[in-house]
Amino acid sequence: MRTLGLQLRFLVPLLLILFAAAYVSIPLLDQLTLRWFARDLNIRGALIARTLSEAIADEPSLSRGKRLQSLFDRVVEDERLFAIALCSPEGAIVIRSDSFPRKLDCTQVSQIAARPDPRLALAGGPVHVGVHFMRGGSIIEPTLVVLHDMRFIELRSQDTRHYLIIFLVVLGALIAAITMVVAQLTWRGWVAGARAVLRGEGLVRPLYFAPPELMSVAEDLRARLRELEDDYRRKQAPQVDWNPEQLRMLLRTQLHGDQLIVVSNREPYIHELTDGEVLVKRPASGLVTAVEPVMRACSGTWIAHGSGSADASVVDRHDRVPVPPGSGEYLLRRIWLSAEEERGYYYGFANEGMWPLCHVAHVRPVFRESDWECYVRVNQRFADAVVQEASGDDPVVLVQDYHFALLPAMIRRKLPKATIITFWHIPWPNHESFSICPWRTRILEGMLGSTILGFHTRFHCRNFIETVDRFLEARIEHEHSTISFRDEVTLVESYPISIEWPVLEAVAGWRPVPECRARLIERLSLPHDAVIAVGIDRFDYTKGIVERLNAVERLLEKRPEWIGRFVFVQVAAPTRGSIEEYRLFQERITALSERLNRRFGRPGYQPVYLFAEHHEHDAVMELFRAADMCVVTSLHDGMNLVSKEFIAARDDEQGVLIVSRFAGAAHELNEALIVNPYHIEETADALHRAATMPSAEQRERMASLRMTVREFNVFRWAGRMLTDAARWRLRQRIEARVERHRSD
Ligand code: F6P
Repeated sequence: MRTLGLQLRFLVPLLLILFAAAYVSIPLLDQLTLRWFARDLNIRGALIARTLSEAIADEPSLSRGKRLQSLFDRVVEDERLFAIALCSPEGAIVIRSDSFPRKLDCTQVSQIAARPDPRLALAGGPVHVGVHFMRGGSIIEPTLVVLHDMRFIELRSQDTRHYLIIFLVVLGALIAAITMVVAQLTWRGWVAGARAVLRGEGLVRPLYFAPPELMSVAEDLRARLRELEDDYRRKQAPQVDWNPEQLRMLLRTQLHGDQLIVVSNREPYIHELTDGEVLVKRPASGLVTAVEPVMRACSGTWIAHGSGSADASVVDRHDRVPVPPGSGEYLLRRIWLSAEEERGYYYGFANEGMWPLCHVAHVRPVFRESDWECYVRVNQRFADAVVQEASGDDPVVLVQDYHFALLPAMIRRKLPKATIITFWHIPWPNHESFSICPWRTRILEGMLGSTILGFHTRFHCRNFIETVDRFLEARIEHEHSTISFRDEVTLVESYPISIEWPVLEAVAGWRPVPECRARLIERLSLPHDAVIAVGIDRFDYTKGIVERLNAVERLLEKRPEWIGRFVFVQVAAPTRGSIEEYRLFQERITALSERLNRRFGRPGYQPVYLFAEHHEHDAVMELFRAADMCVVTSLHDGMNLVSKEFIAARDDEQGVLIVSRFAGAAHELNEALIVNPYHIEETADALHRAATMPSAEQRERMASLRMTVREFNVFRWAGRMLTDAARWRLRQRIEARVERHRSD
C-alpha cells in the first residue's frame, strides 16, 4: 500500500507532464510539417515553371496559345496540383487552367505568395499559392502561378499526430512500469536497510542493503528511541521509592554486600585549623552533596585528597578517619599531594585543561606537558590507594569526575574483577572540541577501563560515544549503548544526579520561611517589601554570573519601578584561586556589582549584594527560604544541584526557580522558568515574571518540582547505577562459571 501511494505520487505528475508535452508539441509539429511541405511545394512549383518555360517560349502569341491551354490542363492532372495560370509582366492573366478560380487575379496571388503562410482557403480545401518567374522565353519575365492542393498535407499531419500520441502513451506506460518495479525494489531495500541499521547491524558488518543516507537518520532515530526508553524507564521506576534503606538492601542482596570504594578529588569533610581550633567544613561541591548521602547509606571507604590544614592531624596511621564526625558511618581515606602535584594535576591539567575543554564557556583550555605528567602520576597514586583499600579482588569502585579519567584503566589492570563505575559530573563536549586535547586517546582509553560510565544526560553519552568512534578502534553497540575496547565492555548510560531529599529531622531544624525572610531583611537592612532573588554558586566563569548581573541591570533599566525594591543576593564561594582566569573573573564580578550599585543605588537601597565567601549548608538553606526566587544561569553545566536544593528548601511551595537551558537540570525541572542566559532581555523578563508571579501559580509549579526532585533523588541515581552494576556482575559470574564447566 505504502509503495502504491508513493508510486501514485510519482505517476500522476508524470502523466500530467506527458499530457502537457502532447498539448504543446502537436501544434508545433503541425507548423513544422507545414513549413517543410511549403518549401517542397515551392521547389516543385519552380520546377514546373522551368519545365513550362520552354513550351511558353516557343509560342509566338500568348493570347492565342491553344496548345498552351491544353498543356496547362494536362499539367494540372497531377493529383497534387490544383491549378496554374500564366501572368503577363503587366500583371494580367494570360492563360489559366480550367480549375484556376475566376475571381483570382495576378496581383492578389502575388500578395498571397509573399506571405509567410501562403495558404488560400477555397471551397474544395486549402491551396498553396506559389508565383514563379519563367526564364528564357520571348516575353520578358512572365510569371507562373501554381496552386497546390494542400489536403494531402492535412492528411499527413493527422497521421503524424496519431503516431505522436501513440508514442507518448507507450512511453508513459513504459516509464510507469519501470518506476513501479524500481520503487518496489528500492522500497524493499530501504525497509530492509532501515531495519538492519535500527537493529545496529550496519555498524558491525558491511551493509549491502542499507543505503548510506539512512545511517545518519537511523542514528538520530535510535537516539530518540533511547531517550523514549529512558523516559519510559523513569516513568516506570517511581514504584520503587528510593531511600537509604532501599540502597542498603540493594547492596546486601544484589551486590552481596560487596565493598564500596568511592574515589574523588574533593573530600566530603575538611578539617581546618581556625584560631587554634580544629573545625570541620563541608565543601561547596555538587559532587559531595550527591555522593555523601550515598556513602552514609552504604558505608565503605571514600578516598580523596586531604586538603584541609588540620586533615593530617585527625587521621590514623593508615590516613583514615571515620566520618561524618561524631557518627562515623564510613571511612575517609586521605591522599596527600605535594604543592607541585596539586598545581600540575588539579589546577593545571584538570582545571585549566579538562574543565574549560568540557564546558563550552569560551575560556581556552591550556594543556601543558608537565601538568599531564603530574595528572598521570596522581591518578596512579589514587589507583594504588584503591588497591590498598580493597579487601577482596572484586570491590565496587565509584570513580568521580574529570580528575580521574585514567583511573579506571589503572584499577582494572590491578583488580581485573572489580566493578568500576565512573561518573563524569561535567558535560562531555562534541568530538571536534575534544580533539583539542593532546592526550585524547589516553583519556578515552583510561575511561574505558570502567564497567559503567555515567553522564547526566543522553546527549553527553552520545557525544562520548561519537568521540570514541572518532578516535579509537572500538566496537560500538548503539542498541545496548556499550563500547567494546580491548576485550573489555563498558556500558555508557545517563544517570541524572540529584540530592538527598531532606529527612524530617533536618526539616524540623529549619526556621519558618517568614522568619528566614525577616532575618535576611534585617541583616541587610532591606526594604520590607523587597523582592529578593538569590544566586548561590562557586565563583566560576561557567556559572553565568556576569550574564545574571547584566539581566538585573536590564530589568532595572526597563522597569524602573523595581529600583528600590528588587534586590539580588549573590553568594559566590571562592574556588581555584591560583588560576588566573578565576582571579580575573572574581575581579570582574566585583567591579560589575559595584557599578550596578553606583548606578541604581539610593540611600538605604542597593540592588546587588555580593558575598564572595563560602556559606555552610544551613546558611544556604536559610537564604533559599528567605528568597522569592533562585537564579541559575550557567553557561554550561552537567546538572546543577543548586536548583534542586532550592526546591527541596521550599516546603512552603513558594518561590520561583529560573534555570538556564544549558544546565542538565533544565531537562528535568520543566516547571521552572527556563532561560537562555546569553539572552539578557529574556533573562530580565524572567526576573520580572518571577517577581510578579501570583502565589497560586508559584504553588502549582513548586509542588510539581518538589514531586520530581523527591522521586528522582540521589538514592535513585546511585540505585540505578548499582543495579546496572549488579546485573553486570551477575552476568560475569555466570560467564565465569560456564567457562569453568567448559574447561573441566
Ligand atoms: O562540577 C564538577 C565538580 O566536581 C562538582 O562536582 C563540584 O561541584 C565542583 O566541580 C567542585 O569543584 P572543586 O572540587 O574544584 O572545588
